[in-house]
Amino acid sequence: MADAAMTQTAQTAAAAPPLLAVNNIEVVYDDVILVLRGVSLTVPQGGLVALLGANGAGKSTTLKAISGLLRTENGEVTRGDVIFGGEPVHGLSPETIVRRGIFQVMEGRRIIEDMTPVENLRLGAYTRRDGEIRNDMDRVFEYFPRLKERTGLAGYLSGGEQQMLAIGRALMARPKMMLLDEPSMGLSPLLVGEVFGIIRRLNRELGITILLVEQNARMALKAADYGYIMENGKIVLDGSADELTANEDVKEFYLGGGEARKSFKNLKSYKRRKRWL
Ligand SMILES: Nc1ncnc2c1ncn2[C@@H]1O[C@H](COP(=O)(O)OP(=O)(O)OP(=O)(O)O)[C@@H](O)[C@H]1O
Ligand SMILES: [Mg+2]
Repeated sequence: MADAAMTQTAQTAAAAPPLLAVNNIEVVYDDVILVLRGVSLTVPQGGLVALLGANGAGKSTTLKAISGLLRTENGEVTRGDVIFGGEPVHGLSPETIVRRGIFQVMEGRRIIEDMTPVENLRLGAYTRRDGEIRNDMDRVFEYFPRLKERTGLAGYLSGGEQQMLAIGRALMARPKMMLLDEPSMGLSPLLVGEVFGIIRRLNRELGITILLVEQNARMALKAADYGYIMENGKIVLDGSADELTANEDVKEFYLGGGEARKSFKNLKSYKRRKRWL
């Protein structure tokens, strides 16, 4: 992955170090289960980078290694390091990492269902002491106007609204960087488009650096500048979003519509060994 890291660095300003650098990390759960086997990736300041891959590839584990949430699942970074803004963050507590400016929006939304949306948003600001919380909440409502109208319990929000609340709560922490884990999961195509539109705006308008984990590779590569593809605990390919979208293997394995694979002819080619392995 040294090559890939260099390509990306060359694309951004030659001397500017990336905001986030994950260097050759190995992650083990329960002292024995080796899940990440040397993962490296970088995200430049202001970038929107996608991390793609099939179920079980290790995408969520990679995000948790960055945010420190691995600890809560008895997981550990046993090799390599995670550098954010030039400082190592692996080994720090999740609260400290939030204070440094990284906020992870977990898979499956994880909002507090028996609190209102406003109460959920306040929780997002728990690491902050300043009096700006009201203004920040107004800013969240600018991006998610529907949340303002919902005064009942968050558990009664639709799936799309819950996803928006989860992202809004992250925004309340004023993160420099957001880690988003499958924000499109379980949403209708229309809502997926809406949520991705908002993610792009947070990146462009607020300058929030984003690492986006997705199974919806097509949507993710439309939104992102750069992407990494992960299989079996390793990065197997990376490139600009345009390069990946044009790559034959990516098209076949990650962008192929469900339709084409139904015919036997296509099934045979689908089983063909991937060229990058
Ligand atoms: N807490 C845990 N304890 C033990 N093994 C785990 C734990 N969490 C994940 N794993 C294992 O690590 C591997 C990678 O899981 P991970 O959740 O990172 O994959 P993923 O790429 O996010 O998959 P998905 O697309 O299904 O969300 C899987 O084999 C999974 O079973
Ligand atoms: Mg996952």
